[in-house]
Amino acid sequence: MDARLVRAVAPPEGDDFAACLAEGLSRSLKEIPCKFFYDQQGSHLFDAICALPEYYQTRTELGLLHRHAREIAALIGPGAEIVEFGAGSLTKVRILLDALQGPAAYTPLDISGDYLGGVVRTLAADYPALAMRPLVADFTMPLAIPPLPGAPRRAGFFPGSTIGNFRPETADCLLRRMRASLNGGGLLVGVDLVKDPRRLHAAYNDSAGITAAFNKNLLARANRELDAGFDLDGFAHYAPYNSAAHRIEMYLVSLKRQSVEFAGRRFDFVQGEPIHTEDSHKYTIEAFRELAARAGFRPRAVWTDEERLFSLHWLEN
Ligand code: TRP
Repeated sequence: MDARLVRAVAPPEGDDFAACLAEGLSRSLKEIPCKFFYDQQGSHLFDAICALPEYYQTRTELGLLHRHAREIAALIGPGAEIVEFGAGSLTKVRILLDALQGPAAYTPLDISGDYLGGVVRTLAADYPALAMRPLVADFTMPLAIPPLPGAPRRAGFFPGSTIGNFRPETADCLLRRMRASLNGGGLLVGVDLVKDPRRLHAAYNDSAGITAAFNKNLLARANRELDAGFDLDGFAHYAPYNSAAHRIEMYLVSLKRQSVEFAGRRFDFVQGEPIHTEDSHKYTIEAFRELAARAGFRPRAVWTDEERLFSLHWLEN
């Protein structure tokens, strides 16, 4: 493994699961922040989602990266530090790393330190000459990424349509902060597109039930970490497409009247009560370019597949 591998072990801020869960379940409209999906088990379940036949997003984005890798590498330029926000399995970046000219370093940010540690070891074994700087970080919090020696130019990588998991009003604020952290470098971002609602519905309601298991992992995680007594069969995964708001809305719906205790408190659910766990906004290419421009980026190249399912955007700083 690369001797220059640096492991940031500072716990991400605002990651107090117990406090955030208690706060979210105390609201009149209950909710759990979606970043808590991604503990180690959730990260593995998410990898399984990405391989589902119904989940066209990952395949399509990988195809776009393969098809346009040379052009993207030319836009990023030689000797760049690649900063990936919410890096997950580190699969997609390999396509970039293979096409880039002498990348200076790879800096993956992920909220799950356990998961990140494992996937970084695998990547480092395949790219022994690449300097790697994994940062255990919540990219929704203000963050300063310390410059590397020699301060190579940066390029951001934000695939997977993770941007869609933020409300459009907060998405521009997030993009603005990312832009500031890139020290003048551009951002390559993957964005899922508005399409036939049936296609969208299927992608978040797969027949194998993996998405349901991923959603319920929030409750399973509370049982594991907080000794909460959630009855996993007492909640249903519910993910309708709200076509007026262009988004999939994800809920866990209580199937009965029930109470759950953790952290010395009791939380009551009536039958049919939803917990909101996630939104996944879909954009048109134009609407996303406008959002990026509001965040101060200059939208440049955009690539999409023949079916116009998914888009990749190169935004200049
Ligand atoms: N960024 C992914 C998306 O919005 C995240 C995701 C996919 C997801 N499937 C999910 C989040 C199911 C929660 C539940 O498509």
